[in-house]
Order: sequence, then C-alpha cells, then structure tokens
Amino acid sequence: MVHELSGAAIAGTGHAVPERVVTNFDLEKMVDTSDEWIRTRTGIRERRVADENTATSDLAVAAAREALDMAGMAPSDLDLIVVATVTPDMLFPSTACLVQDRLGAAHAAAFDLSAGCSGFVYALATAAQFIQTGAYSNALVVGAETLSKITDWQDRSTCVLFGDGAGAVVLKAAPAGKGLVSFVLGADGSGKDKLRLPAGGSRLPASAETVAQRQHYIQMCGHDVFRFAVRVLGEATREALEKAGLGLNQLDFFVPHQANVRIIDAAVERLELPKEKVIVNVDRFGNTSAASVAIALDEAVRSGRIQPGQVVAMTGFGAGLTWASAVFRW
Ligand code: UT7
Repeated sequence: MVHELSGAAIAGTGHAVPERVVTNFDLEKMVDTSDEWIRTRTGIRERRVADENTATSDLAVAAAREALDMAGMAPSDLDLIVVATVTPDMLFPSTACLVQDRLGAAHAAAFDLSAGCSGFVYALATAAQFIQTGAYSNALVVGAETLSKITDWQDRSTCVLFGDGAGAVVLKAAPAGKGLVSFVLGADGSGKDKLRLPAGGSRLPASAETVAQRQHYIQMCGHDVFRFAVRVLGEATREALEKAGLGLNQLDFFVPHQANVRIIDAAVERLELPKEKVIVNVDRFGNTSAASVAIALDEAVRSGRIQPGQVVAMTGFGAGLTWASAVFRW
C-alpha cells in the first residue's frame, strides 16, 4: 500500500543568546587583531559570549520555550527532541536529554546530532522524516552552541569568528505539501582535518598533555573551509530547489549559515539572488555554528519578513565536512 506522506511544518520559532556582548574592540585588547580586519574579512562587529555558569543546554531550553510558546504547545505535546550541537554540555548524556528533562517533555524521545555548522538543517530534515511518515506529530529541533568554551582565545585566526547562542523550531504534522518540500544532505569526510577539535574523544582522551598542547580547542584551515563553503552554499541550495521543482526566482528568503559575510555574498552572487531575499545577522552574532541558521530564521519570522505561503531555503555547511539545505513552504 502506498502511504501518502504528511507535511512537516514549522509551527513556532525561538532563539536565545547570552547577554554579554564582546565587540571587535574588546578582542583588540586580547589578541593582535583590529576591528577593521575583522569587519572587512568577516563582516562581524560583535558576538555574544556565555558566562562560566551558562552551558549549551541553558540556551537551548530558553530558545525551545520561545518556539513552544509561538506554536501554542506544551512540552508534554512533544514526541521528539533533536539537538544539533558540537558543544554538548558533556559527552553523554545527550544535551537533548538535558533539555527534555528541563522542559518536562516526558513523552519525547531525545537525541543529539553532530554535523558541525550544518547540524540544524540536518536535524530539521531528520526530525521531519518522523513526522512525514506519521510516526510522530510534534518535534522540537534545536541548534545550540557555546563555542566560546572550545575557542582558543590566544588564536586570532579563530577566536574573532565565533559566538554563542541557540535557535529552535517546533515541527508539526501538516497537510501534505505544506512545510518541508525538499532537502539535500551531504558529507565529505576526507575534509575531516579542515575543521576539528582533536582531543577529548576516544582517539585522544583528555590528558595533561592534550591540555598543554591546546588540543581541546577548535582548529581550522580557514582558507580551505572558505573555498568549500562558497561552493557548497550555492550548490546545495540550487540542488534543493531543483528537487522541490522550484526555480531560484520562486525563492522568497534564503537563510544561509552565518560564518562570514564574504562567503554569503559570494554564494548569493553565484545564485544571482537579490540581497533583500537574504537573511544576514553575522554582524551581531558571529558564527554560532549549529545555532546560526535557527537564530537567523527566528529573527526573520519575528520581524514579520517571512510570511505564510512563502518559499524559504535554509543552507548550512561546516565540520565533517558537511552541507545541508532544506526548502520550506511557509
Ligand atoms: O562555520 C563554518 C566554518 N568556518 C568558516 O566558514 C570560516 C571560513 N574561513 C574564513 O571565513 C576566512 O578564511 C577567515 C576569516 C578565517 C580568514 O580570512 P582570510 O581572508 O582567508 O585570511 P587569511 O587566513 O588568508 O589571513 C590573511 C592574513 C594573514 O596574515 P599574512 O600571512 O598575510 O601576513 C593572517 O595571519 O590575516 C592574518 N590574520 C589576522 N590579522 C588580524 C588572521 N587572523 C587575523 C586576525 N586579525 N584576527
């Protein structure tokens, strides 16, 4: 028997960022850099940084509450929680289980998903499968990070880039054709060394030596990731739209991963998209990895830019290397 897939629509969005703002001028006092270099090379002016008592799950829970409020749902309505993160509170249990407990989402299955900065879009596509097959009705998808905790604050080539935050959406069953229309997920594990945190796992367990060698911090080949990013941001978006049977001219909003405004501009130029259709907030938050697309999406929804019926494409790229694009009809 052919089972018709249900739709998986976004019923609510939310985001949370720490209060503390760190500007480029603050960074000038910490490493050999300048506001001018950071602005012209990345487009970033400031980022949010969590205090020592704030972990990833704290931001995830705050963002989730906002999304549930907008959806008019209680935590007990949730069947599933997926948290995309590379900065879980701890290796295990999953951050999703911590969120489930804090929300009191007693009926929800919960797991984390690791796909670097593509994590939120990977998680959206994953959670939507459970809804489209009819297995579940309501899912919470969160992208949440406290990258400041794994940033080497002595390394000017990375510490100026990252920020902390969380974004969340509630997905719910909808009539077929509404919500998620298509997605593209991809990975190229041969790029595993381009962006990584080497120690603290089973390959290099934490030791006095790994700490002394600063191996618990993000390491990145910026140039290589930049080239990869520009290519896949355009390609994945184009491919997802093709799968949806839509042309680029039918796209109302493009929500790219917020890593560097130069990456976004280059991809947007290749796609020949008008700038008004592109959601950008990297200037205020920096690169928040798995949270970035979700935060940008929430801002665009709450400001009234994204309206029912519109076509929205979200595309991420990051460690793995990975990429992911999802097209929604709002
Ligand atoms: O979320 C996904 C993962 N991340 C990304 O998408 C990041 C992708 N990469 C990038 O965004 C860019 O490659 C960076 C912003 C990281 C670097 O920009 P770039 O234009 O590729 O600069 P570069 O690495 O070629 O460095 C140019 C110069 C170097 O000096 P020399 O060798 O030309 O003398 C660097 O040492 O800029 C220097 N530099 C800095 N100078 C001032 C590097 N970082 C800094 C800094 N302040 N913070």
